Amino acid sequence: MNPFEKYSVEMINNKLDLTVLEGSYLPEIFPHREREIDLMAKTLSSVFHNSRPSNLLIYGKTGTGKTSTTTYVTKMLKEKDPEGIEIFHVNCQVFDSPYSILVEIANALTQTNEDKIPGLGWPMDRIYSELLKRMNRSRRFMVVVLDEIDKIIKKNGPDALYVILKLSDDSTVTRTSFIGITNDTGFLESLDARVRSRLNQESIMFPPYNASELRDILKLRISNISGSKPIDDSALNLCAAIGAQEHGDARKALELMRIAIEVSIRDGTTKVTDKEVYRARDKFEMDVMREAVATLPPQSKMVLLSAVVT
Ligand SMILES: Nc1ncnc2c1ncn2[C@@H]1O[C@H](COP(=O)(O)OP(=O)(O)OP(=O)(O)O)[C@@H](O)[C@H]1O
Ligand SMILES: [Mg+2]
Repeated sequence: MNPFEKYSVEMINNKLDLTVLEGSYLPEIFPHREREIDLMAKTLSSVFHNSRPSNLLIYGKTGTGKTSTTTYVTKMLKEKDPEGIEIFHVNCQVFDSPYSILVEIANALTQTNEDKIPGLGWPMDRIYSELLKRMNRSRRFMVVVLDEIDKIIKKNGPDALYVILKLSDDSTVTRTSFIGITNDTGFLESLDARVRSRLNQESIMFPPYNASELRDILKLRISNISGSKPIDDSALNLCAAIGAQEHGDARKALELMRIAIEVSIRDGTTKVTDKEVYRARDKFEMDVMREAVATLPPQSKMVLLSAVVT
């Protein structure tokens, strides 16, 4: 017998697809983020009155919907004027230096491989002027989202953002606005005054979700799961309560619900109850703990072991 048979049968029979609970899924409706979405749209809408929207700083704890709502709002902005607007979403955990960020944007502005700027070797001023040339040639309004923006400062020092934000002053033909996203609330203080005033022209704080808000978010997501899997109301409330305890984290609540459904499928139970949620939480915490211990250097593992033994 195929070893996957007993695990895949329920998924296949009920046509169960849990992608809507995964982090990569972008919802169309964001309960309890109406105010933040409206503020973002209000700021960005200056582009339709022919002026450059202010740069925007978005901050709040992890899992409060900063990245996903920004992605949604910029997608909607692009939909309003697909030919006239360009959006760049840069994850600064991956592209963590001014060099790599400017190269990334410049390369996105060209279709041909010959025009691609190499990842190493060009002096900064050459990249900067080449990027400006390409921006001015494209004649579009550009929104550059710098997600996890604090990582640039942590890696390169407080001046690193200056050269990037200067683009909005220097791009005279095109207009460019920046949206910085961070979950490090102390980050603004670490900035140099010139950078702070450029970045923080407007700011939006994303507050943590409470349990009842998380319940609404979960309910809506679950209603979008294709295929059927009965879920107890109390299991849903429990996921929301655990997410609320973890500083109002929607990611945690959704992830718990997804694991609880998988636990229920694997164990062959007919519905998802509190028991599956508790098992999901233990599994979640075990996985995090296992990863934390596994990545410790050998000396730290020895210290940990001696603490357990004594
Ligand atoms: N109001 C909401 N409605 C629906 N889903 C939401 C809402 N808020 C957050 N989510 C979901 O929660 C998860 C985490 O959201 P997101 O990645 O936007 O958080 P974040 O604030 O960027 O966190 P981090 O600071 O860790 O990057 C995503 O799957 C997102 O779709
Ligand atoms: Mg994020």
